[in-house]
Amino acid sequence: MKRNLASSLLALLVFLLSCQPPRSAADYTPKAIGPIGDSAMVAATHPLATRAGVKILREGGNAFDAAIAVHFALQVVFPEAGNIGGGGFAVIRESDGSIASLDFREKAPAGAARDMYLDENGDVVQERSRIGHLAAGVPGSVAGMWELHQKYGSLPWADLLKPAIKLAYEGHVLTELAAHNLNRAQEAFKTANRFVLWTVNEEGWVEGDSSIQRELAATLSFIQNNGRDGFYKGIVADQIVKEMQLGGGLITQEDLDAYEAIWREPTVGIYRGHRIISMPPPSSGGIALLQLLQGAERFDFSKTGHNTSETIHLMTELERRVYADRATYLGDPDYYDVPVNMLLDPEYNEERYSSISRNKKTNSTEIKEGKVDIIESVETTHYSIVDVEGNAVSVTTTLNGYFGCKVMVRGAGFFLNNEMDDFSAKPGVPNQFGLVGAESNAIAPGKRMLSSMTPTIVEKNGRLFMVTGTPGGATIITSVFQSILNVIDHGMSMQDAVDAPRVHSQWLPDVIVSEEGSLPGDVITGLEELGHELVYRTQLGKMNTILVRPDGTYEGGSDRNRGDCYAEGF
Ligand code: DON
Repeated sequence: MKRNLASSLLALLVFLLSCQPPRSAADYTPKAIGPIGDSAMVAATHPLATRAGVKILREGGNAFDAAIAVHFALQVVFPEAGNIGGGGFAVIRESDGSIASLDFREKAPAGAARDMYLDENGDVVQERSRIGHLAAGVPGSVAGMWELHQKYGSLPWADLLKPAIKLAYEGHVLTELAAHNLNRAQEAFKTANRFVLWTVNEEGWVEGDSSIQRELAATLSFIQNNGRDGFYKGIVADQIVKEMQLGGGLITQEDLDAYEAIWREPTVGIYRGHRIISMPPPSSGGIALLQLLQGAERFDFSKTGHNTSETIHLMTELERRVYADRATYLGDPDYYDVPVNMLLDPEYNEERYSSISRNKKTNSTEIKEGKVDIIESVETTHYSIVDVEGNAVSVTTTLNGYFGCKVMVRGAGFFLNNEMDDFSAKPGVPNQFGLVGAESNAIAPGKRMLSSMTPTIVEKNGRLFMVTGTPGGATIITSVFQSILNVIDHGMSMQDAVDAPRVHSQWLPDVIVSEEGSLPGDVITGLEELGHELVYRTQLGKMNTILVRPDGTYEGGSDRNRGDCYAEGF
């Protein structure tokens, strides 16, 4: 009897708690605040890379110099995604308010063909675009860093490579995560290479092991001495071309000669009075983010509450519409006429969102067998930097899968990307992120594959407000979206905005992805009652962000619980 009374009281308590109004922005008190810098801040995915950036800033370098130092240091300490064998995007805001964006995305080699990943029956052979030489696009990172330096650098180029060369030559100590990632890729390293890589360790890597990379140190020294030509010409270029010839890849010296990083007009929009500056095509990130934010303005998320079933439902409804557009209309603007104006037209989006109901989910029109929950890995990397002048740079860069196509260029010590998998190998067939595509993102020689990378800068009242970005494949756009909502709508500190549980939806497959164990039971039930199916992943994204506080100081927000991310300011 007593037990019955106790359980009834418990049930009543649970019921009353579930009836509480959602926590609104007005009730918010910060749980955590990230490191504060009075004058400058660097946030990157590994403490040693962050410190390389801070060192350059302290020596009088600007944010762009620091970005170059961080980029090359990441190649050494985070070979999962830090790279010279891959590519990426940078969004820039100078202290005077001028903005720019730099595209150093990989390109399909001239020898690439539309159906190169199909078998004789016309079916996609997934491994071909994911592991081994044929998966690699022409790398863009060194050209990108060189271009960044040409336009904005203030310290000598050679100085910016010093921290990376020192780390590679003298070695550094592996973190637990680094050891774990190396161990996971052992078989793939052996399959993809004709020689034994330093990354192969039959006994298994453990935290505290040392990684000395002398070949990589030599490669970085060529780049230090010869600028972009140190990679695209001479010894390193020869090593890449030879690796391709021996392994059946496509990249030639002509491809390397033809590679160019491109300055593009950033994609810009307004969200609740804030100016959002993000990456244009060939990333889908900026356009998709602005479409989501246009939709978000229809709702009052500060009232519906952070991560309540109502808010997650509404975000999901926006996301499935935006990802359907992404699959159909986005691709390399140099090859395909991306209808940017239409996609960002408020009337167009108004019409798209008018069918959203608060009480019922909309089914994605055609449910395909997207493989979102069995993604091989999540390793891209993002860094955010603000310098003492107030210049800001937001960079997302990747090899695509962790350690890219797992091919190391023999003698040169770096991995090549498997970015070719970001093309749509066949219309409607999902890539490793479960993303489907169409003609707009079909493979063509020299074309850039569509990306989701969304390096973003936010202004408030005409001043720098936030620098944000993350890895996560298809989930990048929705993670960046949530980081902005968490700060602007839910009033969170930067660290809380980053720590908060993330959710994701992308049209196909017709599910909501949530981080395991992160949503309360009543929120899950609420979503299921609206018709949603939830699937779970260990984590979504690894953000590195910066927020300008009302007093002008900087708060770094880094995913220290989801990775080795680390922010440091001064
Ligand atoms: O460009 C893209 O969208 C993908 N290549 C990014 C890959 C990625 O984020 C991997 N996981 N974190």
